[in-house]
Amino acid sequence: MKKLVVLTGAGMSAESGLKTFREMGGLWETHDVYEVASPTGWARDRSMVLRFYNERRKQLLETSPNTGHMGLVELEKKYEVRIITQNVDDLHERAGSSNILHLHGELRKARSTSDPGLIYDLESWELKEGDLCEKGSQLRPDVVWFGEAVPAIEEAAEIVSIAGIFVIIGTSLNVYPAAGLINYVPEGVPVFVIDPNEVPIPGNSQVKVIPEKAGMGVRKLIEALENE
Ligand code: APR
Repeated sequence: MKKLVVLTGAGMSAESGLKTFREMGGLWETHDVYEVASPTGWARDRSMVLRFYNERRKQLLETSPNTGHMGLVELEKKYEVRIITQNVDDLHERAGSSNILHLHGELRKARSTSDPGLIYDLESWELKEGDLCEKGSQLRPDVVWFGEAVPAIEEAAEIVSIAGIFVIIGTSLNVYPAAGLINYVPEGVPVFVIDPNEVPIPGNSQVKVIPEKAGMGVRKLIEALENE
């Protein structure tokens, strides 16, 4: 089966009601997201960082996958679909996608601050001061903060380098190293971009733009692939 690799961003979850980063204008309440979602933010005001993620986790429990997520599951009938997402939500999982790589971590997981190998599923929406790992250290969101390494980037580049079709959905390609994955698409592999807004794509890969929101865009992608 041909490998269909999909890079998704916040726009993938927009129709599920989750705001994109750029829509938030990079702000949460009065705080700069780049400050809150960072090691310095954690060092300065850990309870504020925990509250930021608790509110997003709580909102996530009230949302569900949209038709865009479901369309990617449908594509698994004809392709080996590999999803690489910048999103920390679990909507691809809940839609039923079978192969997902989270570049920026997962909102519904917590990690030990003393041993990053200790990762726990969060049953409830709340992660509090005093919630400790088995070694007695404070738990933090298992999310990649600004300024931190992206451990899964090599694996993601590997996946993109064997793609037969590459699809970009709902990302402004503003943040590296995720945005750099486009450079690993093999020569001649068709690239589709699904986004209601213009997204500048670096390099000279021939790109087919589907100027739609994710739900309608994936529907049109399925039709376009049927006619290939
Ligand atoms: N369907 C598809 N795309 C949409 C929709 C929609 N309904 N609504 C908005 N978009 C597009 C926007 O046009 C934009 O190109 O989704 C993209 C969202 O871009 P960003 O808000 O920059 O989100 P993203 O690219 O995922 O951000 C990357 O930056 O903030 C950090 O770590 C965070 O993972 C995040 C990373």
